[in-house]
Amino acid sequence: MTESRSRVWLARPLFADISGRLDEHFDVIRSEPAGERYTSQEIAAHLTNAHGALVTLVERIGAAEIATASKLRAVANVAVGYDNLDIPALGERGIVVTNTPDVLTETTADLGFALLLAAARRITEAERWLREGQWRSWSFDTLLGHDLHGSTLGILGMGRIGQGIARRATGFGMRTLYHNRTRLPEAVERDCRARHVGFAELLVQADHLLLALPYSPQTRHIIDAAALARMKPTATLVNIARGGIVDELALADALAHGRLAAAGLDVYEGEPAVRPELLALRNVVLTPHIASASLGTRRAMVSLAVDNLIAALGCGPRAGRPPNVVNPGFIGNRPGA
Ligand code: DGY
Repeated sequence: MTESRSRVWLARPLFADISGRLDEHFDVIRSEPAGERYTSQEIAAHLTNAHGALVTLVERIGAAEIATASKLRAVANVAVGYDNLDIPALGERGIVVTNTPDVLTETTADLGFALLLAAARRITEAERWLREGQWRSWSFDTLLGHDLHGSTLGILGMGRIGQGIARRATGFGMRTLYHNRTRLPEAVERDCRARHVGFAELLVQADHLLLALPYSPQTRHIIDAAALARMKPTATLVNIARGGIVDELALADALAHGRLAAAGLDVYEGEPAVRPELLALRNVVLTPHIASASLGTRRAMVSLAVDNLIAALGCGPRAGRPPNVVNPGFIGNRPGA
């Protein structure tokens, strides 16, 4: 006997008017974690009878979580990053994975720029100082920061978001250098007014360094004590990618000892926990992983993930051809098929 409707697990209550579109095609199992996150066992239990799942970046899914998920065919991540998903393990089982690129590019680039301005011009530090009642008289050298205009911006990771940052930098009169695994086509470089340089040169030249590269075992702690030591002591570091890209203890040490002027961080290696060494510092601006968190963008992300899942499970106008597959070698509705 064939089952008429597939079952889909919706891991979080995400904009009911948008995620409700799943009900037109599937039996949807809705849930919420009891605490902040599901345990691995809870995820495995939810996936056991599901054909598809719509999850966020805090649901980690790998071999253990799919061990009993014999029917699972698609996982739609509501994020552009997908380091929460073990792509080789899922791919081996023929499970299609999708993400939500493009729709969040500009919003994320905006937040990157906001962190850059806030850190370089000491905005949150200044506000805290004022609220603490420390502003007793105007003085010439209070809270001196570093300029964006006329400075050199370094971008590590020149994908869509890195390019969005570079386009913003032209409006601020900055010179942009970037480093990427592969150099961009000349037309894109011209559009972004950015020049490709080696990683070491990027570190040395940047007055402000912005991280927008994907996280992987190869990029873990790429910004370590040695990389930080190459940077200017007047430089600002901004991370809107993933926390694990930076050795946070080395960063806190550099900030505390004047080897780096300031940092702006939206992501953390052990988030939602933030290292006490960072919390103790005034010259770091800390936001809770909100780079894509505008209402319009978060709605667009959910909508795209819903489209992806519907298509990946063989329904809707793009049946079998989900727009944003991340598995390498995926053709049709099975990787490599
Ligand atoms: C992403 O999409 O990867 C972002 O980190 C979520 O805001």
